[in-house]
Amino acid sequence: MREQGVIETEELVKTYGKFIAVDKLNLRVDEGEVFGFLGPNGAGKTTTILMLLGLTEPTSGKARICGFDPTREPLKVKRITGYLPEKVGFYEDLTARENLDYTAALNGLSREVASRKIDELVDMVGLSEMAGHKVGTFSHGMKQRLGIADVMIKDPKVAFFDEPTAGIDPEGIEQVLTLITNMAKQKVTVVLSSHQLQQVQKICTRVGILSKGHLVAEGSVDQLGREAIGGGKFRVEVQVSEPTSKLVKSIKSIKGVINVESSGDLLLISCGKDLRPQIARAVVDSECLLVQMKIEEYGLDDVYMKYFRES
Ligand SMILES: Nc1ncnc2c1ncn2[C@@H]1O[C@H](COP(=O)(O)OP(=O)(O)O)[C@@H](O)[C@H]1O
Ligand SMILES: [Mg+2]
Repeated sequence: MREQGVIETEELVKTYGKFIAVDKLNLRVDEGEVFGFLGPNGAGKTTTILMLLGLTEPTSGKARICGFDPTREPLKVKRITGYLPEKVGFYEDLTARENLDYTAALNGLSREVASRKIDELVDMVGLSEMAGHKVGTFSHGMKQRLGIADVMIKDPKVAFFDEPTAGIDPEGIEQVLTLITNMAKQKVTVVLSSHQLQQVQKICTRVGILSKGHLVAEGSVDQLGREAIGGGKFRVEVQVSEPTSKLVKSIKSIKGVINVESSGDLLLISCGKDLRPQIARAVVDSECLLVQMKIEEYGLDDVYMKYFRES
């Protein structure tokens, strides 16, 4: 049997009246992953996160966080999850430290533990000097960083960040993403939702692309990179009469070839550059007959075109 994933959903559905916001979603996220939950606005990302947190009830299907059912065991789920919502709600009239103190108290931390932890966390998110200032004076980026500290206070096993980079400047984005990456290094499992693929794909170990409630693509960034978001990677499609394993082997040995898949008389070759001449040579050398050869170049733009175009 497979080990239990930190997050598992099975045919998870959420409808609002006749409208299907999340449609038969099957997800699995394992410990220590930074899972990028990507998709255009309205795709159903927030709705999914809310179901996983037990903040909204699924219409049908199953959701589990470390084996707990968020609907039936909301407190157990609450104890092990951290959540940074799209719109962070801090008390603007309180200082950063006071806000964190409040969260610590809500989570039952003793004063001493809270105080030590808050020192550590404000330092980690680069807000030590601002800890005594009212949150109302903070920039959006600073609030997001404070939000990360807020999520970390209770040492969650799983942390959900909903659009954490939206509306902040490039430098702020970099800081937020670095902090999230560091969190994953401490074995926290992270789910990061975003409609800005470019901003977050660098830090995700795996991504799922949601479109109109459907998971339309999923894989490690590396895999998707090869297929679709490699920023200028190529896929060569070769049709040969009766491809042999010797030919596949010989293509695999060409420098720059990342992967070769065969399906019938088609060979799908991912490569880092245009290797058509070398591939053609390998086909001829293996005495197979080259029927045709096509090349496609993929980049982030293609992924946008394919999945992120908003209708
Ligand atoms: N409470 C609600 N009532 C009705 N429709 C909703 C509600 N919440 C979300 N929706 C709809 O569900 C779809 C998915 O929304 P959401 O999960 O917020 O998407 P995302 O976070 O990917 O932008 C949208 O079309 C949105 O309008
Ligand atoms: Mg959303």
